[in-house]
Amino acid sequence: MCGIVGYIGPRDAAEFLVTGLHRLEYRGYDSAGVATITPDGQFALVKTTGRISQLENRLADTPAPGSVGIGHTRWATHGNPSDENAHPHFGGDGELAVVHNGVIENYRPIKQRLENEGYVFQSATDSEVIAHLIDSCLKHQPPIEDMAADYGPLVDAVQSALTQLRGTYGLVVLFRRWPEVLIAARLGSPLIVGVGDNEHFIASDASPLAGFTDKIVYLADHELAVVTASELRVIHRDQGRVNHNVHVLDFQVADVAKGGFDHFMLKEIFEQPEAVENVLRGRLDHDAATSKFGGFNLTPQQLRALNRIIMTACGTSWHAGLVGEYQIEALARLPVEVEYASELRYSNPPIDNGTLVIAITQSGETADTLAALREMQRKGCPVLGICNVVGSTIPQETDGGFYLRAGPEIGVASTKAFTSQCTLLAMLALYFGRLRHLSFSAGKQIIAELQELPDKVRRALQYNDQVRSIAEKYAGCDNFLYLGRQFNFPTALEGALKLKEISYIHAEGYPAAEMKHGPIALVDEKTPSVFIMPRGQVYDKVMSNLQEIKARGGPVIAVVCEGDTEAAELADDIIEIPAVEEYLQPIITVIPLQLLAYHIAVARGCDVDKPRNLAKSVTVE
Ligand code: AGP
Ligand code: GLU
Repeated sequence: MCGIVGYIGPRDAAEFLVTGLHRLEYRGYDSAGVATITPDGQFALVKTTGRISQLENRLADTPAPGSVGIGHTRWATHGNPSDENAHPHFGGDGELAVVHNGVIENYRPIKQRLENEGYVFQSATDSEVIAHLIDSCLKHQPPIEDMAADYGPLVDAVQSALTQLRGTYGLVVLFRRWPEVLIAARLGSPLIVGVGDNEHFIASDASPLAGFTDKIVYLADHELAVVTASELRVIHRDQGRVNHNVHVLDFQVADVAKGGFDHFMLKEIFEQPEAVENVLRGRLDHDAATSKFGGFNLTPQQLRALNRIIMTACGTSWHAGLVGEYQIEALARLPVEVEYASELRYSNPPIDNGTLVIAITQSGETADTLAALREMQRKGCPVLGICNVVGSTIPQETDGGFYLRAGPEIGVASTKAFTSQCTLLAMLALYFGRLRHLSFSAGKQIIAELQELPDKVRRALQYNDQVRSIAEKYAGCDNFLYLGRQFNFPTALEGALKLKEISYIHAEGYPAAEMKHGPIALVDEKTPSVFIMPRGQVYDKVMSNLQEIKARGGPVIAVVCEGDTEAAELADDIIEIPAVEEYLQPIITVIPLQLLAYHIAVARGCDVDKPRNLAKSVTVE
């Protein structure tokens, strides 16, 4: 998920590695490290939590000389951010070092097996299993006396390790005994090789390469690269050696920050297909037609006995909780209440033995959410967490829970955390549904729908230009209404919050039918109403609400399913989205609303990533 760099050639490797890691900082990270092979054939390993500048300080005290090396910025998914968990990780007795991006789903059984073989693990990461597994595969080969020119035994060992892994990886391996070669591989996590003059660079995206070389080779899934200073060979798992195309990169050092996007918020909006893929990864159980979670810490019997869920959160995470309420009540028929954490912490709701509390948070540090979960624990409730930041306070204090794996969210306005939270809650709804009344075939159907989500998110993003021109048209307005019903009522709240936060425009989200009980008084020709109205059971009802607004002269922007001519005729402007099942609609309908808020804020010259008066995580009451 975060950053990888590698170097082999005549330069001082660490110098390139550190420059490259700086260039990858825009991705966010919690720790970093480098490993090189010194001229006397030993590993130099330097890693630390915190910033790259801290890594540089450590390198000043303990240099890592040598002209071959690998480096990493980590954003923890398994194991807290710590020096031990930072990459590179050694395999065997310091025979090789590995950097890894991604998630290894089946690391537990592999770790168990390797421990039985005698391997001792230094970290809590999933990544360390890759290093020991490659070492173990090497040991199962005949002893290598003379390494063949094609590094066949190393390639075989890496390939046989990779076939045992489930999950995603971009990785680079550095061998102590063979410092003249690096092996890189990818499956589902990007990796490129930069071709220089008798030197090669490896990186997880192009930014580290700018100014070093403009010739790059993109590795594809299931490809492995054998990289020496003078040669690059690409080998496909099934096809054997393949010809690689060298692309010429048009990328300047100045383009590096934020990966080419103008703001972190926009970058994170566009990362949502990948984020949704990551939250689903390894959690769909096709055989049992349900979802599976490692972190419940409650037996299916205990979960079956629940009669109520209380979700608690703040801000955008609270909106995700509301989506979860609709999803769980619809699919699992289990009552859900969603409480603002700031309210729950001082209220005294009646609790019985069948109540489960779920705290939802991106940062894991929100003071009110933490206080609310402590209060509920004190009352004897089991509390689960849904959190993005590994090792933050809330996951440490809950009795169990699930990580979102959305990658670092840096923009103050939460975007990809919301869609990941809603996707995770949909999987929980499936799980609870299958514990209760949902049939096997209904479960299968839901799994198929969940799997289509990343592509649908991708498609919703394709309407970005359409949203931008609508945003420019309405950017001068001072009031907005956001209206939706059922599953899209929370989306209306979230759309209004996004606009408020980053453009400072007054916006209100309402259930569409409720506006005639008051807010309709606000409607005039300068107050646009954003209707969230994909096709579904309440479509006709929302259409009537839309007509009520039009009758009062209010401009209407409608978020509708592709090809909806009926709404297009009535609304002043439409934004299209792909059709999706109702319980998944918030994950798609929120995307144009995020983009609308973003483009309006940009048009008004606002500081999108650091809006006034707001902090990324609110650690005070
Ligand atoms: C979202 O855009 C906000 N900046 C804010 O409402 C946020 O969602 C809230 O503070 C909760 O944060 P958490 O998810 O990190 O707990
Ligand atoms: N899953 C790995 C870890 O937690 C890699 C994380 C990353 O991609 O940065 O260490």
